[in-house]
This record gives sequence, C-alpha cells and structure tokens, in this order.
Amino acid sequence: MKICVFGAGYVGLVAAACFAESGNNVITVDVDQAKIEGLKQGIIPIYEPGLKELVIRNQSEGRLSFTTDIEAAVKASLISFIAVGTPPGEDGSADLQYVLAVGRSIGQHMQGYKIIVDKSTVPVGTADKVRAAVQAELDSRGVGFEFDVVSNPEFLKEGAAIDDFMKPDRVVIGTDNVRTAEIMKELYEPFMRKHNRMIIMDIRSAEMTKYAANAMLATRISFMNQIANLCERMNADVAAVREGIGSDSRIGYDFLFPGPGYGGSCFPKDVKALIRTADECGYEMLLLNAVEEVNELQKHVLARKVLDLLGDSGADKPLAGKTVACWGLSFKPRTDDMREAPSLTIIEELLANGAQVRAHDPEAIKEARKTFGDRISYSTNQYEILSGADALVIITDWSEYRNPDFERIMADLKEPLIVDGRNLYKPDRMQLAGFRYIPLGRNGSGISAGGK
Ligand code: NAD
Ligand code: UDX
Repeated sequence: MKICVFGAGYVGLVAAACFAESGNNVITVDVDQAKIEGLKQGIIPIYEPGLKELVIRNQSEGRLSFTTDIEAAVKASLISFIAVGTPPGEDGSADLQYVLAVGRSIGQHMQGYKIIVDKSTVPVGTADKVRAAVQAELDSRGVGFEFDVVSNPEFLKEGAAIDDFMKPDRVVIGTDNVRTAEIMKELYEPFMRKHNRMIIMDIRSAEMTKYAANAMLATRISFMNQIANLCERMNADVAAVREGIGSDSRIGYDFLFPGPGYGGSCFPKDVKALIRTADECGYEMLLLNAVEEVNELQKHVLARKVLDLLGDSGADKPLAGKTVACWGLSFKPRTDDMREAPSLTIIEELLANGAQVRAHDPEAIKEARKTFGDRISYSTNQYEILSGADALVIITDWSEYRNPDFERIMADLKEPLIVDGRNLYKPDRMQLAGFRYIPLGRNGSGISAGGK
C-alpha cells in the first residue's frame, strides 16, 4: 500500500519503518528540515533500540523515504497517518494545533479519495475536527473529493517500540465505514502473527480507549507508590506485597513496580488531558486527580530521603558541601527521552538544597544538558561519578545498574550510602556487604514518617 506518515518522532518514525518492513511504500513527512535531512543520511534523531537498522534497511531497499514536501507525499499516498505531537496546553488539555495543521495540509493537496488516520493521542471528538479541517480546505478549493477519518491510537512503549509495533497486544481501529475498516485490516494483517488482534469499534470509543489505557496504567503505578510509602511506615515489604497481589490473575504482575513517579511523554500529559476532557463536559475525574497528585508527591520522595540522611536541617542549604551521584536521567531505560522524567524534579531539589550533583546515563546526557547545562556534571561511565560522593541515588532502572561492581562502588563512595528508587538489589545482601541501603517501601526503608 502507499502510505505517508506525518511526524518523524517516536511514534511516526517507528510506524513508518514497521509499515515499510511489511512491504508497504512509506513516505515520512516532517516540517523539521534538519531532521529529514539527517534521516535521509541514516541519522536517527532519537535513541530507540533496533530502529536505526530498520530505517536504513528499508530506505536502501526503496520502501521508506523522507521528505518535507507535503504535496508530493499526499498525492502519492492512499493512507495518510497523523503522528505529530499533542502536547499539553496551559490548562492541561491536548493541544491539537499540529494535528489540525496536518489535516489542513492534506485537504490542500489531495487529488482523490484518501484515508486519514489519527495515530496521535487525541481527545474524543478530534476525528470530527480533523474532518472539518480537511473539508474546509476542499471547499475553499471548490473540489469534492471523498475521504474517511479513522482513529488508530498507538500503544507502543519507548525502549520496546519496534517489538510493540510488530507484535502488538491489539490494534484498535475506530471507523464508521466498512470499506475503510477492510483496508485498515489489510494493512495490519502482517502484524497479526498468531491470531487476529484487531479490535474494530466506533471512532469516539477508539479515541477514548487510548486515554483509558494510559490512565489505568498510571493509576496502578500511583496506587503501588502509595502502598510502598505505607509499607515503609508499617515495616512491611512492598516487593513481597507485589508478589502477593500480582499472583491473583485478576490483578497480574505488570505495572506494579513502585518508583520515583511515572514520567515520559504520555502518562503525565494523557492523565491531565483526560481530566480536562471530563471537565469540559461537567464531570470530575476524582480518581485521576488523586493519581496525578500522588505522582507529583512521589517525584520528591528520593530527594527527601537524601535530605533526611545527609542534610543539616538547621542550615539554609542543608546539602551544602555534599556530593550526590545519580544513576539514570531518562524517564525509563532504553530511551534518551527526558520528557517529564522524575530525574528533573529530583535533581532540581538536590541542587536547590545546595548539593553538587553528578549524573550518569547511557543515552540521555545530550537531552539532559538542555535542562541542566553546566549546573551538574555528567559521565557515560557509571563508576566515574562515584569518587568521593556522599551518596548514590538510583533514579532509572537501566539494566547496567542491576548487577554492578559493588566492591568498586564501596571503594569509590565517601560513604557507602545508596538510595535506590527502583528497588534493584536485595536489602539483606546489601547490608551484609556493608552498605547503608535505602530502597523504596521495603521493611522500614522510610526515613521520616508522616506526610502524604
Ligand atoms: P514527537 O514529538 O517525538 O514527534 C512529533 C513530530 O511531528 C516532530 O518531529 C515534529 O517536527 C513533527 N511535526 C509537527 N508538526 C508537523 C506537521 N504539520 N507535519 C509534519 N510533521 C510535523 O512525538 P511522539 O512522541 O512521536 O508523539 C506523537 C503522538 O503519539 C502524540 O500524540 C503522543 O501522545 C502519541 N504517542 C506517543 C507515544 C510515545 O511513546 N512517544 C506512544 C503512543 C502514542
Ligand atoms: C506508555 C504506555 O506504556 C504505552 O502503552 C503508551 O503507548 C505510551 O505511554 P512509555 O511512556 O514509553 O509508554 O513507558 P512505560 O513503560 O509505560 O513507563 C511509563 C512510566 O511509568 C516510566 O516513568 C516508568 O518508570 C513508570 N513505571 C512503569 C513505574 O514507575 N512502575 C511500573 O511498574 C511501570
């Protein structure tokens, strides 16, 4: 099939490469000239495992191309995917300006029947807005081409995006048209390896499904973060509790890991947008308000532990003279994405309290520099930052932190203090090895009680 994908970001680029991999002819369009020029030369603007190889192979085999020429891309394609950003506006609602701009561009250049697919995460009712934007352009050109708008939300996770796209748990297709549903089914057929995982529904339900899925996952995380905080105060172990509840098949083990709060480009903005959507129709999402509040508080837990352990409570800057080494800057492993990363809050709080901060991350240093500049120091060697530091704080669960050289950590740190926001190690073994090990929610690992 002939496809164009608007937006060469995390979603658009992965979708374009995966559709090309299954034999389609895919043109990727972006307004960012530098990004497109780089992609033409095989320079991938993001870190996503496996993406580079996929892009380069499909490009060299002639199925995948990159352009800023919107007109040529629209004319050459039957299906246009919209995969541009929908960032939060000032009031938390999804900003649709990029999505609607693409709708207008398609309306300006289409020369016959088109299928326009919303892959961006957009609020219920957006397909109607896209339809109106396209129609307005057709009207102003005085032409009457037919088109259908489909909602096809994307559920991939960064760091595992290729696998998620190639072997999806499900593909949701929202359409009001049988012919379009058949074409979309044909497009996704190669990704249905073992059995059909396509779910066809009406457009508004498809739009809602994406927000409901992310809100549900965010809710599990905030719930577990509160259980972990309570475990600390009650001398219970959240890791055991997770096993105990996850074994119930109705609950399951996934997305029950406590941590420094959820981050990334999706959960925070999508929870906010759903709250806002409800607001607009006079309904209050009480549960999601709490999910968000818990998450905001959780982002402060690690820095608070450091303050409790190292801070001089009488001083203006309680951490003055202290050096804190941080492992992990990106919001999760296997990505360089820093959007809404908990590290942003944690490091700002350490700095505000006078600490010197050194950070390691395998991929996200370039992105992190955009926020912290020279206010912190960086290394791509996880041990280099430890020398003489008063504590190590683990923020992101990169795999290289799971089984590190503990003897080296012990030798390099000034004090053998580890505050672990991802519960990577066994508390009893750490204690035996001589560390002061402070995980989350595990048998009295809370330093100060009380609070929310
Ligand atoms: P991104 O910021 O990485 O990429 C968006 C791209 O769109 C940018 O390269 C930008 O230059 C381009 N763009 C903007 N206006 C354009 C236009 N008029 N024409 C062509 N290109 C244009 O965004 P992303 O993370 O890929 O997210 C895209 C959408 O997918 C969002 O709605 C997001 O919520 C959703 N989503 C993201 C993820 C994820 O993990 N990142 C997962 C599922 C869904
Ligand atoms: C998420 C959704 O999982 C994906 O389906 C959707 O398409 C986009 O948003 P992503 O943001 O890439 O994907 O990462 P995800 O693995 O979901 O993690 C999000 C955040 O939750 C991270 O900050 C992560 O550290 C945190 N998290 C996740 C936890 O704190 N505990 C968990 O158990 C799982």
